[in-house]
Amino acid sequence: MALSAEHEHQLRQASHGSIVALTGAGISAESKVPTFRGADGLWRRYRAEDLATPYAFAADPLTVWEWYDWRRGIIAAALPNAGHHCLRRLELAVGDQFQLITQNVDGLHQRAGTERVLELHGNIWRTRCTGEHHRVELMEQLPELPPCCECGALLRPDIVWFGESLDPGLLDRAFAAATGAALFLVIGTSAVVTPAADLPRLALAQGAFIAEINPEPTILTPIVHLSLRATAGEALPELVDIILDACTQ
Ligand code: OAD
Repeated sequence: MALSAEHEHQLRQASHGSIVALTGAGISAESKVPTFRGADGLWRRYRAEDLATPYAFAADPLTVWEWYDWRRGIIAAALPNAGHHCLRRLELAVGDQFQLITQNVDGLHQRAGTERVLELHGNIWRTRCTGEHHRVELMEQLPELPPCCECGALLRPDIVWFGESLDPGLLDRAFAAATGAALFLVIGTSAVVTPAADLPRLALAQGAFIAEINPEPTILTPIVHLSLRATAGEALPELVDIILDACTQ
C-alpha cells in the first residue's frame, strides 16, 4: 500500500481526533461470507423482494427463515479476519475516540472483540416478535423452523428489511459519530444503501478526512480524500499502523 506523502500527512493529522469506521459486507468477504452486490453477491442470485421484506416473511415465513438459517450456517463456520482484528486493535489503542458502525448482521466484529459497534441493520443471531411483543432475543442456536413468541406470533430475524426504518436511537448515535469524526474510514461497502451511505458524506461535509478501502471503485470514490484499491485484510494492517503511530506522537 503506497500512500503519497500528502495523503500520509493528512491521515496522520486526522488520527489525533475521533475515528469512525463504517463497514459493509466486503470486510467479511475474506472470512468467506458472501457480499450482496459483488461478483458472487447474494442479490445477484436471490431476489431481495422474496427474502428481505416484511411482505415476503408474511407470505412465506418458512422460505425466508430457511434462507437466513443457511446464511447463519455460513457465518457460524466463518472466523473474523485480519480486517476485523485490525479494527479491534484500533479500538484497544484509542478507546472511546473510536466508533465502529457496521451494516453487517454477521456479528464478526464482536467476535473479533470489538465493543463499540453500532449494528445499523440488525443481527442475524437475534429474533424479534412480529406481533405486539417486539421482544428481541439473542439465541445461541436457532431452530430450523420459524419459532413462535410466547404471545403466539412468529419470531422473525432481527434484521432491517427493505422498506423498514432503522432504529432511530442507533441512527442518532451513528450520525453524531459521523458529525464529530476527524477521520472516517469506509471499508467494504458499495455505499448505495441509505441512510448508512449518508454517513461518510456527512462526515466529509463536517471536515473529516475520508479514506475508503475497497478493491473496486464505488459511488463514493470520486469524493473521498483517499481511495485504497485493496481488500480490507491487505490495507488495514498498514493503515492502522500509521494511525496508531500518529496517535502516539
Ligand atoms: P455490498 O455487497 O453492496 O458491497 C460490498 C462491497 O465490498 C463492494 O463494494 C465490494 O467491492 C467490496 N469488497 C469485496 N471484497 C472486499 C474485501 N475483501 N475488502 C474490502 N472490500 C471488499 O454490501 P454492503 O455495502 O454492505 O442490507 O450492502 C449494504 C446493505 O445492502 C447490506 O447491509 C444489506 C444489503 O441489502 C441488509 O442486510 C439489511
